[in-house]
Amino acid sequence: MRITVIGTGYLGATHAACLAELGYEVVGLDSDPAKVESLARSELPFYEEGLPELLRRHVDAGGLHFTADPAQAADAEVVFVCVGTPQRSDGLAADTSQVVGAVEALVPLLTADTVVVGKSTVPVGTAAVLQGRADELARDGVRVRVAWNPEFLREGHAVDDTLRPDRLVLGVADEVAEKVLRELYADLIDAGTPLVVTDLASAELVKTSANAFLATKISFINAVAELCEATGADVVAVAEALGHDVRIGRHALGAGLGFGGGCLPKDIRALMARAGELGVDQALTFLREVDSINMRRRQRVVDLAVEELGGDLLGRRVAVLGAAFKPGTDDVRDSPALNVAAQLQLRGAHVVLYDPQAGDNARRAFPTLRHATSAAEAVAGADLVLHLTEWQEFLDLDPAPLAAAARRPVVIDGRNALDAQRWREAGWTVRGLGRPRLGPLAVA
Ligand SMILES: NC(=O)c1ccc[n+]([C@@H]2O[C@H](COP(=O)([O-])OP(=O)(O)OC[C@H]3O[C@@H](n4cnc5c(N)ncnc54)[C@H](O)[C@@H]3O)[C@@H](O)[C@H]2O)c1
Repeated sequence: MRITVIGTGYLGATHAACLAELGYEVVGLDSDPAKVESLARSELPFYEEGLPELLRRHVDAGGLHFTADPAQAADAEVVFVCVGTPQRSDGLAADTSQVVGAVEALVPLLTADTVVVGKSTVPVGTAAVLQGRADELARDGVRVRVAWNPEFLREGHAVDDTLRPDRLVLGVADEVAEKVLRELYADLIDAGTPLVVTDLASAELVKTSANAFLATKISFINAVAELCEATGADVVAVAEALGHDVRIGRHALGAGLGFGGGCLPKDIRALMARAGELGVDQALTFLREVDSINMRRRQRVVDLAVEELGGDLLGRRVAVLGAAFKPGTDDVRDSPALNVAAQLQLRGAHVVLYDPQAGDNARRAFPTLRHATSAAEAVAGADLVLHLTEWQEFLDLDPAPLAAAARRPVVIDGRNALDAQRWREAGWTVRGLGRPRLGPLAVA
């Protein structure tokens, strides 16, 4: 089966390489020539563990090609649409212009019946609109069937999530599209991957509902963290105890700096906007509160930093550990860590930032921040340390030499992930979110 993947960003490059791994001939089409050149040289333009090896193997073997020319991508039985759906600049809704543009560019070039499968996260109803456009633009005698196969991969686990997904959702409007997609994913289905075959609108809604649920769960525990801060309770203990209830579960109950990235924030906003368009905005007004609880956590970390520095940030050196929106990726889109770093800088602090992988992207986003090449360099001479992205490298740090190198050994653990006991024994004062302030411990 010949496959085209349109859009070779975090999602599309992963999907293209994984389809090649499943044995298909794949062409990745992207409108960004620099990205295409890089991928064609087997150089992944972003960080994702395990993906560079897959990319190199299949580019070298000739099963995976990249192009910026739609004409070279039109000879395919299945076309996956993996382009971006960012938040619109004029409101909360999703900007679907890349999706529409991709379909409009490729469909007139198709010379045989093709299934166009959306993977981008879109407002419910988009697939139906695309089917209409495809019907208008397809050549005489060519039947284009639009299907939807939402993607649930997590950056940092992208290859594994694609080759061993926890479920496959196929939104189809007819039996032919279903048959083609069942055949395409036969290896995964045979391996026992749970499969949900449904209509187009339900498939679109699965993805946005899943992200809304996750965001709600994260903001729920962060709301509890606000209560803990007002009472002296410890949100980590509360979350652990809550998590033992199988109806609740421990996942996504990590109180801290909250969610960010290129998906959750814009997806919950797009879902609210879509509900408004459909006349059911009341159903989702709670997501507005989910969003503001999340944004308040960023402010809370800034406030804690001001408090720890005695109310004055001017000229104080603040080490920020982490710039990516989460560990395992170099993605800094709507990164809570970068947002906090930038706010502190704007209020006069001298911020020194270090991230194991996202340094280049952070520098591009905020060139005025100073960037260190190691955690030790960032912490040296710091009046305050902020741990904002829980990379394993930070969890493995030896706090003792860092305490000696810092000017004041005070750390705000924005992810409640450091071993507080170890850091305190090394002389640190540790502040978490939704946790009591913990002073240094004398080692017996
Ligand atoms: N990143 C994730 O973890 C993830 C997970 C699940 C779903 N999604 C969804 O997948 C979609 C893509 O996300 P991403 O993170 O990969 O975005 P991205 O910005 O990294 O990639 C989008 C790519 O599409 C290309 N593009 C845009 N218009 C094009 C066109 N007309 N023709 C060809 N190429 C075009 C861009 O150049 C870019 O390389 C979004 O809808 C997102 O919500 C992302």
